[in-house]
Order: sequence, then structure tokens, then C-alpha cells
Amino acid sequence: MHLTRLALTDFRSYRSVDVELEPGTSIFGGPNGEGKTNLVEAVGYVATLASHRVAHDAPLIRHGAGQAIIRAQVHGEVRDSLVEIELNPGRANRVRLNRTPLQKPREVLGILRTVLFAPEDLALVKGDPGERRRFLDDLLVAMAPRYAAVRADYDRVLRQRTALLKSAGPKTGKGSRETVMTTLDVWDAHLARAGAELLVAREHLVTSLRPHVENAYAAVAGGGRGEASIIYKRSFEEQALPDETPFGERLRAADAALRGALAEVRDSELDRGVCLAGPHRDELELSVRGLPARGYASHGESWSLALALRLASFDLLRAGREDPVLILDDVFAELDAGRRDRLATLVAGAEQVLVTAAVPADVPPVLAGARFAVSAGALAHAS
Ligand SMILES: Nc1ncnc2c1ncn2[C@@H]1O[C@H](COP(=O)(O)OP(=O)(O)OP(=O)(O)O)[C@@H](O)[C@H]1O
Ligand SMILES: [Mg+2]
Repeated sequence: MHLTRLALTDFRSYRSVDVELEPGTSIFGGPNGEGKTNLVEAVGYVATLASHRVAHDAPLIRHGAGQAIIRAQVHGEVRDSLVEIELNPGRANRVRLNRTPLQKPREVLGILRTVLFAPEDLALVKGDPGERRRFLDDLLVAMAPRYAAVRADYDRVLRQRTALLKSAGPKTGKGSRETVMTTLDVWDAHLARAGAELLVAREHLVTSLRPHVENAYAAVAGGGRGEASIIYKRSFEEQALPDETPFGERLRAADAALRGALAEVRDSELDRGVCLAGPHRDELELSVRGLPARGYASHGESWSLALALRLASFDLLRAGREDPVLILDDVFAELDAGRRDRLATLVAGAEQVLVTAAVPADVPPVLAGARFAVSAGALAHAS
């Protein structure tokens, strides 16, 4: 798929911009702070309903404006779609698909699929486990939008169970603690059911992603630079099932295992008022040359590994389906010449690649395409 048009009103630094896009590469060049990332951030928002830079929408609305609007025209294999998103601070956002308002914004997920790599992705390697869990969950949703509901369901159950644990703190009287215990049994079952679905899906995803990460890392880093690997680590002990175990059976086993784990940690949970077992505490372990990436990998290795995770996502998302739009924000400046060339060659065949670069000469010639000059919230065709 590819974007044929992007129009922004009061989004970030843009008062109004309307740009037509072609398949192939588009390079957005211009000095720091002129609005290159703002542009691709809007594209990412259409695909995920979230910014890759901020957790809340307020900074996305142009300072002084009342709302922001993103319009994206998407060309897909089967149909063309027009997505319109209205960002309303303090009120619900509104999403229209082909001019029809959607009941829930998340119904738009899947219309535009993107893989976005940005400097913030260094946190995938160096940041907290939560960053890597979010990476997996975002990818699950991109693979199958129904996981947006699975994830929301788990978050809700987790919040409610945690509130219950807090309400049953050490100071609670014996009688009310017993009532809480009975209610907790019910929430354990909810958490185990929703948690099993999420974690089995993540495990399955990591198994599919692994060979792509290994290949992408080798391709970016160049041969002989050591191997990258990824492993999904549950927050509770459990006997590993053979790879060929059917999905349904895995689900039942994970449900039972999680329920058992919750029973085991319940006393400490009540003391501490936090939920101690479940996919919200799992980890995606990354390593390079057999050492944990976090704390050991060099800056360049960490950067290459983060990039490999995104390229692997791209490979997985395009397998057997149409290509997602690949977005590379500021990636070339950070790489040495060899890595730059290998990356460019690797992505040159994608249906559409949107590239931002402060110094367009950093983008290797194999990625030749349309060039835009971004300056003070305006776009112009550059030669
Ligand atoms: N809500 C907003 N309202 C007005 N301006 C904003 C808003 N959010 C960000 N900006 C401005 O947008 C600019 C940053 O744009 P952007 O991040 O796209 O820059 P860039 O071209 O990618 O720069 P770099 O090369 O440094 O990455 C900043 O000058 C910032 O002040
Ligand atoms: Mg930028």
C-alpha cells in the first residue's frame, strides 16, 4: 500500500499543508526543527492512533489552535481509502473513513499500515522492559487489528485487579479482607484468561520475528559483526512447551500457569498492592554476541539492533500481504557509510519509503526519489 496524499491542519508546527505522494522513495530534507519529523509523525498516527514521540495528544495540536486534523489518502491493493482524524484536546478524537464517522476510532486500524523507525527507538534497546512490551503489542495490532481489543481488555482487568489489591492493603480488617479474597479469585480468572491470550500471541510473534531480526541485524551490521537474538521471557516460571504445540493448547496451558502463578504470589501482592505476575511484567530479551544488549551493546550496535527490530517488523508485515509504508526518520545520519549503503539497498524495493534527513546527501543514491524541502511549516519540491 502507499499514501497518495497527506493533508494537515494545525498539526504540530503546520498551520496547513497538503502534499501529494508517489510510490517509491520520498525524501524530506531541511534544517533541524523545520517540521520533518512532524510530518511523518502524522503518518504514523494514522496507522496507530498514537504518536511515536509523545504519550498524549496535546503536543500534536498546533500551539494556540483548538484542534488538529490529519487527512490521509491511502492506496491499497483492494481499495483506496480516505482517513480523516480530528484531534480534540480534552474531548474524544473523531475518525472518519471515506467520510463516514466511525463509532470507535480503533476501527480505522489496519487501513494504513506503517513501520516507523526513529531516533526514539534507541529506547527499545536501552529503555525499560515496558518499551519492548509496547513494541511487541504494537506489532501484534499491526499484524491483526483485533489485538487492540485484547490488549485493551487486559489493561482494564489489570487496572481493576490492582485497585482491588490496593484496597485490601495490610491495614484492612480481617472480615473485609476475606471478601476481597473471594472477589480476587474472580479477577485472577479474568486476568489469567486475558493475560494468556496476550502472552501466547506475543510468544508466537517473537518466534516468527526471530529469524527476521537475525537477518536484518546481519544485513545492517555487515557479516562477522556478531549475532543478534531475541527471546520472550515470562514473568513466572513455567515448563516450556514444544514449538509445534497447537495454539489452543498453548492458550489453555498459559491460562492455567498464570492462574497458578497468581495463587503463589498472592500474599506478596496483598502486602505490596501490585499485580506481580502476568504479561505486564514479561520481558523481550535482546542480545548481541550472546550478551544482553541493554548495558553491554555499543551505541552503534544498539542503534543497529533497534533498526533491525523495525526492519524485521517490516519483513513480517509484508510477508504474503501488501507492503506497509516504511518510514525512516533521521536514520542515515547515525550510521557509518557501510551501514547506510546496506540499509538503503535493503529497503529500496519497498512499495513506499518516506525518509527524513537534515542532510539529504546522507541518503545513499540507491534511494533516489521525490525530494521535498521542509522549511518553517511549508513543503516545496526540491531538485
Ligand atoms: N504543538 C506545536 N505547535 C507549534 N509548534 C510545534 C508544536 N510541536 C512542535 N512544534 C515545533 O516543531 C518543530 C519540530 O519539528 P520536527 O520535530 O518535525 O523537526 P525536524 O525537522 O524533524 O528537526 P530535526 O532535524 O532536529 O529532527 C519545533 O520547532 C517545535 O517547536
Ligand atoms: Mg526530526
